[in-house]
Amino acid sequence: MNYRHAFHAGNFADLVKHAALLRLLALMRQAAPALTVIDTHAGSGLYELAGEAARKSGEAEAGIGRLMREAEPPPAFAPLVDAVRRANPKGALKYYPGSPWLIAEGLRPADRYLACELNADEHRRLSELLRGRRGAEARLGDGFKLAAAGARPGALLVLIDPPFEKADDYARAVETAAAVRRRNPQAVVAIWLPLKDLETFDAFLRDLEDAGAGPALIAETRLQPLDNPLKMNGCALAIVGAPAELDATLEAACRWVAETLGDGGEGRVWRLPGGDEFR
Ligand SMILES: C[S@@+](CC[C@H](N)C(=O)[O-])C[C@H]1O[C@@H](n2cnc3c(N)ncnc32)[C@H](O)[C@@H]1O
Repeated sequence: MNYRHAFHAGNFADLVKHAALLRLLALMRQAAPALTVIDTHAGSGLYELAGEAARKSGEAEAGIGRLMREAEPPPAFAPLVDAVRRANPKGALKYYPGSPWLIAEGLRPADRYLACELNADEHRRLSELLRGRRGAEARLGDGFKLAAAGARPGALLVLIDPPFEKADDYARAVETAAAVRRRNPQAVVAIWLPLKDLETFDAFLRDLEDAGAGPALIAETRLQPLDNPLKMNGCALAIVGAPAELDATLEAACRWVAETLGDGGEGRVWRLPGGDEFR
């Protein structure tokens, strides 16, 4: 396993993913007094932007760096901009908060957060970040298995954010979404995926529909036409059980990223029917 999120933290894809995550958290907290969040691929939770990895890739500079320099950031990113400011209390942009930081910051006394991470070094940093946070646990292990086993009744959000280094990450993401929804048909399951070529994306969508996990909101951020399968041409989110109130924020976030950071790109959201649901 070679993937290290430190190279990519704060890039265009994190902006869309984390704008969607913060909006989902706000909507689900409004609707339920107790929320469980399972983060299948948590990473370390906080990334140093002056570190070698971030400087070498330049991805954060072109992503969160660019967004934070906007005189008036788009409203869809307001919660993320505020969170990034709180993660950088001295003012200068030194750190980018990952999903564990964003989720743990808003935990209420009755909320629970299970953060899964397979890499031992990342898990050690994650454990340090979450130490002392009531209701939060950093678990070393395979997030796909832990999510399927840990899904319980009640308000539940599952974020599936694999590195896609392995060919079966697509299939395992779909299987996990279906397994979670079998155990809890009200669960919201958000899967992040890279957009490389249309064939892979279409096959993933067909599998998701066939798995019968339920209707999904699909958010596409295409930075450029999907004509080079070796390149990351954009990213997508497939959110099973997404509340209708998510659409506008997500569409605005995808569009801004595609049009501002892309090269002839486009952003759009649409709904995928769910096949036979379990309920
Ligand atoms: C894209 S990063 C996660 C970023 C994080 N979700 C965020 O938004 O800040 C993917 C992480 O998954 C970890 N990983 C890879 N395979 C895993 C697995 N099967 N279970 C849990 N974690 C895994 C990697 O070590 C890496 O830290």
